[in-house]
Amino acid sequence: MQKSSPPGRAIAVINLKGGVGKTTLAVNLAAGLANRSDGTRNYSVLLVDLDSQASATSYMLGETPLDPENNIQHILAQWMAGKQPVVLPENITGRTSARNPVFNGTWPNLHLLQAFPGLREIEYGAYIKFASKSDVLERKKHYSILQFVLENARQDYDYIIFDCPPNYNWIAAGAVQMADDLIVPVIPDFLSTNGLRDLVLTVSEDIAMLSPRSGKRIRAIALMLWESNNNVYSQYIRDLREEQLTRLRNTSPHIKELLRDCEIWDGLTRRVLVQKLVQTYRAIVSEDAGQVSRSELDKMVDSILEWKRPEAENVEERG
Ligand SMILES: Nc1ncnc2c1ncn2[C@@H]1O[C@H](COP(=O)(O)OP(=O)(O)O)[C@@H](O)[C@H]1O
Ligand SMILES: [Mg+2]
Repeated sequence: MQKSSPPGRAIAVINLKGGVGKTTLAVNLAAGLANRSDGTRNYSVLLVDLDSQASATSYMLGETPLDPENNIQHILAQWMAGKQPVVLPENITGRTSARNPVFNGTWPNLHLLQAFPGLREIEYGAYIKFASKSDVLERKKHYSILQFVLENARQDYDYIIFDCPPNYNWIAAGAVQMADDLIVPVIPDFLSTNGLRDLVLTVSEDIAMLSPRSGKRIRAIALMLWESNNNVYSQYIRDLREEQLTRLRNTSPHIKELLRDCEIWDGLTRRVLVQKLVQTYRAIVSEDAGQVSRSELDKMVDSILEWKRPEAENVEERG
């Protein structure tokens, strides 16, 4: 599946909170993009499951057994053990759709880099090994393996989507550094206010320290798991649009830049059908999925397809 340049665009779906719909959004955006065409062929998409709970992997693979070599844990384990060169699984070079039967092979151009049960120990081991948080060089070394994975994937995929864990471990922090764009799913309610602020402050501090001229931004806040007939949600959404974002932007010049042109997507409202699709390992773009969720998803995919590249001042810093 050789693709023409420019190299693939990396998007991290991230929030430090769990249960806000990160995985559902990441997987369905990936399937939604894979279902679209640039006019000559469908986009090729790689979903990278970075959460040790492996929810995206379970959702996309269904009953298919895990592959002990096609997973992020296997890559990181080699790196931690000092193996040179680290051998990457074939599927991140875009060649193994037959062995990568996500959603029963519905989209041969949609691939998955699985998470694996041992990922938790790797997260912990790497944390101990690279505990120095304030040393920029140490931090960058930390991410070099993810950089290696990404640079390989960029050659073969139009879009690379990271499904992040519900905390800011080094893998999530690495995904922020790798990504060109960030999408933050939030549930529009009181507690999420703190969650959004927490995420924005954490991420902006890291970007200011490690990749200040990369041009990477939070491109969208996606409202998730809400109900249009519930006042609590509508009020929160109004507040988010009219006040919260402005307040956040006024916190610092870095945050202002990070949230420049940030879109607030209506996202995915809460539907029993979506829950059923997840349980039966089907994507929202499946033929029999509900029209409402389908059109909600389509709007988000349309937005992504229209995004221009970040204007990096220094291309080397993009990663
Ligand atoms: N639009 C939706 N309608 C109904 N249930 C949803 C919807 N989006 C997500 N869910 C369910 O909410 C739960 C949390 O979603 P998930 O994507 O796993 O969140 P996270 O990755 O942030 O932990 C899951 O059980 C998922 O099936
Ligand atoms: Mg998840």
